[in-house]
Amino acid sequence: MIWIPGVDEVPMSLSTIGRHGLSAVTVAEVGDATQALHQRTSGDLLGIRGPFGNGFSPVKGKTMIVGGGTGLAPLVPLVEALAALDARITCLLGAKTKDELLFLDRIEQLVSKVGGEIVTTTEDGSYGLAGVVTEPAEKMLAKGRFDVIYTCGKEQMMYKVFLLAGRYNTPLQASLERIMRCGLGLCGSCVVGEFMICKDGPVLSYDELLKIGDEFGKLKRDFSGRETPV
Ligand SMILES: Cc1cc2nc3c(=O)[nH]c(=O)nc-3n(C[C@H](O)[C@H](O)[C@H](O)COP(=O)(O)OP(=O)(O)OC[C@H]3O[C@@H](n4cnc5c(N)ncnc54)[C@H](O)[C@@H]3O)c2cc1C
Ligand code: FES
Repeated sequence: MIWIPGVDEVPMSLSTIGRHGLSAVTVAEVGDATQALHQRTSGDLLGIRGPFGNGFSPVKGKTMIVGGGTGLAPLVPLVEALAALDARITCLLGAKTKDELLFLDRIEQLVSKVGGEIVTTTEDGSYGLAGVVTEPAEKMLAKGRFDVIYTCGKEQMMYKVFLLAGRYNTPLQASLERIMRCGLGLCGSCVVGEFMICKDGPVLSYDELLKIGDEFGKLKRDFSGRETPV
């Protein structure tokens, strides 16, 4: 949880988990807090609480990573962990345009070390395959078995990946976003079904997602707790 004094406190994933105590977040500017973060410079004061919740569990096996947009940020430390395990990595990275394909160089470097594969898609066709990232994911799952799928990005994309994981009987780890306030499982802002996303998540498994099938990919809560479409 990153506190910007006088503005707000917002949840962020780590896009770098440094071995020597230096870590990083990657912030998309969407509103007041994220705009204020973009305006901060070196030496300004920020507050940090955490880390809270869980993370992806690296599996040494044949792994598929499906990420989109700013959802690529928390996938970079996962690719690092998988490369360190010498896992077989297939990365499917999607974005609306080429400019939004974050961390491509870093991921390419890591994946090439273990002889893995990267497929990129852009919705406007400006880089890689034209279309959405779930299309090559489905083709690859139809061709051969994977031990696990990891996903982070827009919830509609993750919902499609969830359906594919069910169809191809493949374990899934998906990182969800909900409004977070306390980060400690106390306030209920992030509740989805029986789960507090700040504490039980943000990464949920296929079986956990099945239990929230009436909300996942369909509904989220706004700041007042009212249900709105995802
Ligand atoms: C577990 C977790 C990890 C996250 N990791 C990251 C990260 O690594 N990098 C990052 O940039 N963001 C991340 N987010 C999202 C980030 O917390 C929100 O974008 C931020 O809280 C928005 O605050 P704001 O005050 O700038 O915008 P608000 O004023 O709260 O919202 C402004 C506008 O942006 C929209 N908006 C709010 N949240 C999002 C969103 N997530 N995506 C798109 N539009 C949104 C709102 O609907 C509203 O219209 C994460 C969220 C969670 C729950
Ligand atoms: S953010 Fe308060 S319970 Fe999750």
